[in-house]
Amino acid sequence: MTAIVVETERLILRRLTLDDLDALAALYRDPEVRRYFPDGVRTREQTRAELEWVIDVYYGQYGYGLWAAVLKETGAFIGRCGLLPWEIAGRTEVEVAYLLDPAYWGRGLATEAARAIVQHAFGTLPVDRLICLLDPENRASRGVAVKLGMTLLWNDYVDEYGLSHVYAVDRPGPGGSPS
Ligand SMILES: CC(C)(COP(=O)(O)OP(=O)(O)OC[C@H]1O[C@@H](n2cnc3c(N)ncnc32)[C@H](O)[C@@H]1OP(=O)(O)O)[C@@H](O)C(=O)NCCC(=O)NCCS
Repeated sequence: MTAIVVETERLILRRLTLDDLDALAALYRDPEVRRYFPDGVRTREQTRAELEWVIDVYYGQYGYGLWAAVLKETGAFIGRCGLLPWEIAGRTEVEVAYLLDPAYWGRGLATEAARAIVQHAFGTLPVDRLICLLDPENRASRGVAVKLGMTLLWNDYVDEYGLSHVYAVDRPGPGGSPS
């Protein structure tokens, strides 16, 4: 199997490859899945471009990025989660990102993946904090962020995509737990 990055009780998070294009494109063309993404649904070609960017730029230059979420029980590709770099107010912030197939929503899987990602990030990256950028209406995404121990940092962050709420959790102190 392609490089495993993180393992949880129910999930394997592994690097994406171009072989994931069909499964990822099926999620990205679903309006329900892409409801709170400012650029909306994606075509297969747009998904391919994102996948190539993740592999070439994120893995190649940053060493992290979005990873495939695979359900251990069945081996099914159920979404993509991971870490994304952003330049905000002159500093690099790292976002915890998650997107799952609706068939698997409501089982705590995003929280399970995201908690492992937070631990992985604080264990491997020199970051003081991690963030989530949320559409203010995206209650499910906020629910996951809050379960990670995140709190609202900015409610007025505006970029070319519009207004977002930014949630953040600080690196835990010695002996502390991030979530
Ligand atoms: C956001 C997303 C990944 C959550 O996945 P999930 O596996 O269903 O989330 P979890 O089961 O771990 O839920 C965690 C918490 O979020 C909240 N939550 C989840 N779904 C919710 C919903 N539809 N409405 C309100 N709160 C919700 C709850 O507080 C939940 O905790 P609880 O079950 O103890 O009450 C999923 O809804 C998704 O893929 N959405 C589309 C992509 C997306 O918007 N990603 C985020 C972009 S910023």
